[in-house]
Amino acid sequence: MCGIVGGVTDRNIVPILLEGLRRLEYRGYDSAGLATLSSEGLQRRRAMGKIVELEGVCDAQAIDGHIGIAHTRWATHGAPSVANAHPHSVGKIAVVHNGIIENWAELKAQLEKDGRAFESETDTEVIAHLVESEYNKDQDFVAACRRAIAQLEGAYALGILCRDEPNTLITARMGSPLCIGLGVGEHFIASDVQALLPVTSRFIFLEEGDFAIVQKASVAITDAHGESVERPEKQSQLSADAVEKGDYRHYMEKEIHEQASVVAETVRGKTSAGRFLINTLGPEAPELLEGVKGVHIIACGTSFHAASVARYWIEHYAHLPCQVEVASEYRYRTTVVPEGTLFMTISQSGETADTLAALRHARSLGYCGFLAICNVPESSLTRESDLVFLTQAGPEIGVASTKAFTTQLAALLLITDGLAQFHGRDSLPDLSGLDNIESAIGQVLGLSERIRKLSEQFVDKHHTLFLGRGPLFPIALEGALKLKEISYIHAEGYPAGELKHGPLALVDEGMPVVAVAPDNALLDKLKSNLQEVRARGATLLVFADESAGFESADGIEVVGLPHCSEAIEPLIYTLPLQLLSYYVAVLRGTDVDQPRNLAKSVTVE
Ligand code: M6R
Repeated sequence: MCGIVGGVTDRNIVPILLEGLRRLEYRGYDSAGLATLSSEGLQRRRAMGKIVELEGVCDAQAIDGHIGIAHTRWATHGAPSVANAHPHSVGKIAVVHNGIIENWAELKAQLEKDGRAFESETDTEVIAHLVESEYNKDQDFVAACRRAIAQLEGAYALGILCRDEPNTLITARMGSPLCIGLGVGEHFIASDVQALLPVTSRFIFLEEGDFAIVQKASVAITDAHGESVERPEKQSQLSADAVEKGDYRHYMEKEIHEQASVVAETVRGKTSAGRFLINTLGPEAPELLEGVKGVHIIACGTSFHAASVARYWIEHYAHLPCQVEVASEYRYRTTVVPEGTLFMTISQSGETADTLAALRHARSLGYCGFLAICNVPESSLTRESDLVFLTQAGPEIGVASTKAFTTQLAALLLITDGLAQFHGRDSLPDLSGLDNIESAIGQVLGLSERIRKLSEQFVDKHHTLFLGRGPLFPIALEGALKLKEISYIHAEGYPAGELKHGPLALVDEGMPVVAVAPDNALLDKLKSNLQEVRARGATLLVFADESAGFESADGIEVVGLPHCSEAIEPLIYTLPLQLLSYYVAVLRGTDVDQPRNLAKSVTVE
């Protein structure tokens, strides 16, 4: 949510900043800007819309420099506009900021009383004024930044420049991620390593409350108490082209098709004799899981849907009570935590503000352990959790989560098996489906062309219902989220048995209904539910097991899926729903990878 990139080097920093922004664009894309210091002094360029617009402005009004900061914005305070775009500049100071300053109104009122005038509606401009006002006291840039930051309440990742200090970039973090890219005779900052992969693979990740003075030849970090600290250097395993689209039209399309390999990679080496190797979670994991008496899982959005599938699995296979909740609700309510309850979080990015806040809140509630499923090794979530299952989805750039979700499901199935090994009664999950998961996913993705044709029937629809039962109900929810997120068609997911309690009133000829129908114990129940829908005139699209006895007929289109074991049904039946949403969005001409009003990583509340 908003992206920062900056650096100090002997090279012209502008192409590095623009490439970094392009790589961060998925974090926010309503406006962008950059500021540099050069012989011309402090220069700034800003533009509404995507990075390409900023590039146009930089071409039209040339800009260069050896030190600079840049930002791509997802609006929080103030509408998208050039005036609200970062960097915000006051006098000799320029600032880029991710996060939300909670006491900005009080600070602004005080600054206005001091005679300062504001040009934007942002909380960030308050920071620029604060630094400038402190700088005016003693012309000590570093000290001014420290004093200004000490007055901030809320979340921030910052990059700050001063016209009088052409070799010094200040950065700090609290609640929003920030890394420092290490070069030879040059250093960089970014909210995400991906921004800097073309210039370095060596990174330092700032901790909460850290403040850093970044210069060409040095990086000096102090912690939240002002003490000098060394943070470990990490080598990123990502290649610069890991975030390229290749021959695909959209990142989402690429990421859908990567699922065969990344799900296989996520489970590789994690099982022996058909059982999850619990100690791959860490040496303390077996003892912890053995003592677990219940599980609470907290997540947001698509990750919440993965958690919702896991609830069915954990209660069925491990016979443990499992409660699942969205993080934004959990963090603000009273929760009863029975003894021996394991707290689990699920997050692709590991930086989702609500999920992180829920984890921090939960720390004082008496849980027996904290386990995270995450896709980003150096994220805040992984660093703050006791045990971590790292999914191997690789960078997910499309705002709509696809491969992150299916890798989360694979991870959850293994963790369920780990719990079931201690607590299950008679039936452990059948993990054999994971042995050939790559070809199973590949087979379903082979249906792409058929699903692309079927998507034409949805293009002019205003609403769609998605139905599933049991662990496939959260898959219906996920199918609905995908469709609304990228095609802007209103969609709802329902457990098929619930329709008659209200939503059936919505069903008529204009309401397409999509159902997922694996051949499991609930199949006959689902078939009856679909009859009820068909009887009301709805057209049905059913993704069904080839052996489930569904046949296409007037008003019913059936797409057969190869039979799969029960444990991997949620994963397999997600795939056609992703493809359907993708093709509908392409036909409707929406911005598939960067849908309106959304951003990939929601690092603000
Ligand atoms: O990074 P996280 O998994 O914590 O993100 C949670 C949600 O913001 C995310 O899944 C969101 O719902 C996706 N855009 C859905 O496609």
